[in-house]
Amino acid sequence: MPDLTLVIASANVDKAAEIADILGAVPGLTLVPRPPDVPDVEETEYTLEANARLKAQALCRATGQAAVADDTGLEVDALDGAPGVYSARFAGEGASYADNVAKMLAELERVGAGRPEQRRARFRSVAFVAYPDGTECWVEGAVSGTITPDARGAGGFGYDPIFAPDGYDGRTFAQMSVEEKHAVSHRGRAFRALADRLAEAPR
Ligand code: IMP
Repeated sequence: MPDLTLVIASANVDKAAEIADILGAVPGLTLVPRPPDVPDVEETEYTLEANARLKAQALCRATGQAAVADDTGLEVDALDGAPGVYSARFAGEGASYADNVAKMLAELERVGAGRPEQRRARFRSVAFVAYPDGTECWVEGAVSGTITPDARGAGGFGYDPIFAPDGYDGRTFAQMSVEEKHAVSHRGRAFRALADRLAEAPR
């Protein structure tokens, strides 16, 4: 592919490092962090795709360079797909990760979803690239699993202590090494798909 410089929207150090690790393997691609004077964008849309687009387009406009942004949500079947796009503020504006985890466990108890098969969920991530000429491309990554009855493990962040991915031994993401989590995670899958897409054709 022709050389491409891509600005990464995420200011979260761990997420930016994971993204750089995966996209760093694409030949001809140079990654740069979001300039400190470009502010974060408020996520005012109602889908992961639209929020990721909003963030990528704003950063592309501000820098004049192609930009990549991602948005993630946890979709729980027993809660009709909630919290989804509202995952960061499930327990209210400014909620901590622990608040959101406690709210999730309480909500599943409230709706009587006690058995593992009633606690099915998936993380879904959208990675979106906006180019200065107005073209765009996006990909999705998802991982299915079960919400555990209680919080387990000290690693990760967000809902990791209560999400046990399918195909493992019942451990939550918070009980796995970073490498194990990234190998199956929604964000890992989305950015590996994006790396393939960018390696095939830049847009
Ligand atoms: P964001 O779009 O990546 O900022 O994610 C929105 C919210 O989803 C975060 O505030 C977390 O609560 C949750 N989340 C995103 N990614 C993960 C993950 O890998 N593990 C656990 N929770 C996550």
